[in-house]
Amino acid sequence: MKTGNTQDRPEASHALGDAIVGRIDALAAISEAPDNLTRIFLTPEHRTASNLILAWMREAGMWAQLDSIGNVCGRYEGDRPGLPALMLGSHYDTVRDAGKWDGPLGLITAIACVADLNKRGRRLPFAIEIAGFADEEGVRYPATLLGSRAIAGTFDESVLGLKDRAGITMREALKTFGLDPDHIGAAARMRTELHGYVELHIEQGPVLETENLAVGVVTAISGATRLAAVLTGMAGHAGTVPMALRRDALAGAAECIVAIEAFCRADQGLVGTVGYIDARPGATNVIAGKTSFTIDVRSGSDMQRKRAVADIVRQIEAIAKRRDLMLQIDVTHENRTVPCAPWLKAQLADAVTAEGFRVFELPSGAGHDGMAMIDIADVAMLFVRCRGGISHHPDEHVEVADADAGARVLLRMIERFRPREDFPPEPAV
Ligand code: GLV
Ligand code: MN
Ligand code: MN
Repeated sequence: MKTGNTQDRPEASHALGDAIVGRIDALAAISEAPDNLTRIFLTPEHRTASNLILAWMREAGMWAQLDSIGNVCGRYEGDRPGLPALMLGSHYDTVRDAGKWDGPLGLITAIACVADLNKRGRRLPFAIEIAGFADEEGVRYPATLLGSRAIAGTFDESVLGLKDRAGITMREALKTFGLDPDHIGAAARMRTELHGYVELHIEQGPVLETENLAVGVVTAISGATRLAAVLTGMAGHAGTVPMALRRDALAGAAECIVAIEAFCRADQGLVGTVGYIDARPGATNVIAGKTSFTIDVRSGSDMQRKRAVADIVRQIEAIAKRRDLMLQIDVTHENRTVPCAPWLKAQLADAVTAEGFRVFELPSGAGHDGMAMIDIADVAMLFVRCRGGISHHPDEHVEVADADAGARVLLRMIERFRPREDFPPEPAV
């Protein structure tokens, strides 16, 4: 792959990139599925992966432990103990049948940067903390950003009663994992402890590849709304109930799904996805009596997203009414668009320039832990090019040269990092 006006290095000198890719592969081997990568919150694979990451953090000279929600937390002291920290991180849970870079690239790169500092005996006038977030994807429960919300102190305890597809509540799953659901608050950090939160992540889109650039500086993380819809009709015999007399919940859901797609297609800047559907009782010769599906709506404009969600709900209500189906629709997640902090962006841009790359800014259409961390710290992100923009798919791929480039930029940013002039902030009232 060409890297354009970047300072690419001969294959042999991608020392950071090589180490990172080796660990990406090691982590990707930890999966609950024999033939694909699936690593979900509070599973045995979560445990195995966290143990491996803790070992890497300790090897990098960090003090490391699991927190009360299952985040892996590491700390590298500054030139004296107890200093406020620059926090780095990303998540280590995955979607089902995932790629191996979404999340782990940022986490493993952050550890590689600290390992490099430690090897050189370099201590900085601030501490570095790394958070490996336990649940960013929101796959197991209809709630997301659970790890980062716990750290930001915004974890909503009402989600503890949510059930996964097997009927296990989050409260039960935490206990089985060995964590105390009544003490999640212990993970929360204070704004005065953190200089900021910086995350490196694969782009998950095609823009950097089109620009022929290895890295890009993120301007903002697009807001998102997730909904859960349940349509209830009447199950019946596929051979005997005339078409006009049916209350088919699956046909109703199909109409809703196509309507959502058409609506979002017609509005520039808006994306909408139905990524999960379940039909009951689920047999070839039975009309579906109940269908559950999810809806994910995103936009860089909060106003556009909110209007779209209201319109989509109205359309689904109309479809349900016309088909005589009962509708239950709930918002399971809502996040506003999060702007990256100009002062942190500027420091990332300086590091990009210093490493010989053209500074290029782009928004993030995907969600990230920064959406929760913004409640406790200023946030910035560095994107690394991925092949074909493919993500949430096993074909997700990052070239070693690009992993190396991202790591060099992040390391450079860390070494040159200057806290905000007005740090520590005034306590919030
Ligand atoms: C996380 O990957 C999301 O954008 O949903
Ligand atoms: Mn993801
Ligand atoms: Mn991710």
